[in-house]
Amino acid sequence: MTVLMEFIKVSKKYRKSDTLALDGVSFELKEKERIAYLGPNGSGKTTTCKIMSTVLYPDSGKVLFHRQNIFKMRKEYLKKIGVMFGNKTKLMENIKLQDAFLLLGHIYGLPEKDIKKKVFYYAERLNVGHLLDKRLREFSLGERTKSELIGTLLHDPEMLILDEPTIGVDIISRYEMYELLKDINKTRGTSILITSHNVEDIKELAERVILINKGKVVFDGGFPEFKRRFGVEEKDVVLRFRNYTEFEKAKQELSGFVKRIEGVNLHLAIRDEEMPRVLNKLVSFQDYEILIKEKDLSEILRRSFSA
Ligand SMILES: Nc1ncnc2c1ncn2[C@@H]1O[C@H](COP(=O)(O)OP(=O)(O)OP(=O)(O)O)[C@@H](O)[C@H]1O
Ligand SMILES: [Mg+2]
Repeated sequence: MTVLMEFIKVSKKYRKSDTLALDGVSFELKEKERIAYLGPNGSGKTTTCKIMSTVLYPDSGKVLFHRQNIFKMRKEYLKKIGVMFGNKTKLMENIKLQDAFLLLGHIYGLPEKDIKKKVFYYAERLNVGHLLDKRLREFSLGERTKSELIGTLLHDPEMLILDEPTIGVDIISRYEMYELLKDINKTRGTSILITSHNVEDIKELAERVILINKGKVVFDGGFPEFKRRFGVEEKDVVLRFRNYTEFEKAKQELSGFVKRIEGVNLHLAIRDEEMPRVLNKLVSFQDYEILIKEKDLSEILRRSFSA
């Protein structure tokens, strides 16, 4: 895949707070790629997004888009990217939403017919059609966020920079957003970099994960590798007994693995290398169901942040 954007040893210090927010950050975003840019609070995610969208200048290092310095081609570059900060808006708040979209579309030099067509389509997909003749200042947080995403997509950007784009959005609307973003990524080949503290966002959208901590990249790799690296080598197994005697027997024999007991359900934590030994024991019990749980992503995130 062709490299779309490159961050090369980018550093940024906020003089006021004397904080080194980015300390030699390097990574690449390829065409059509979907990256989750993760890290704990204050790790440098928003700073990265601001530099990527030319709002902030780095102290050192380079940022390239199609191998050109973004700060030297700022005007053309800004037409090719879509930027969304979850807590900010680029839409006018005191006019009707449809007019705010028209205004924004005009700034990008889009024909009115084109803007209206897109607004109609996206509003339908994100279920905000009924808000088009209302004013943004009257909107709920989730409604604002969804409108903001539409504003970000109007000019068909090649790359999306989404800094916490799902703040305040309920679970149904979030899935509408994921489906829309995945569609755009697939059909138009739009690259996506998203920061989020939301487990579902990452699960649904990330192909690759970049983990940043204290301004330094600490992991950069595929999503499956990320899960393998930071997931514990342990599985959660639940045994549901229908027979009390069998339950008692299992409780005794598996005592070393029991994490929790709920009624006649035994919750076990089993390390991968112990699995064969446990399975051997399991065949001696009767009248039970077995459930092996997938590793919880929030647990993986917690571990990776403390790494
Ligand atoms: N305008 C600013 N002036 C001074 N310091 C700042 C400014 N913006 C951010 N910082 C500091 O730089 C560091 C990185 O901040 P940044 O906003 O990039 O973090 P983040 O990873 O986006 O965090 P969060 O998950 O909370 O959004 C933090 O220590 C923060 O306090
Ligand atoms: Mg942030």
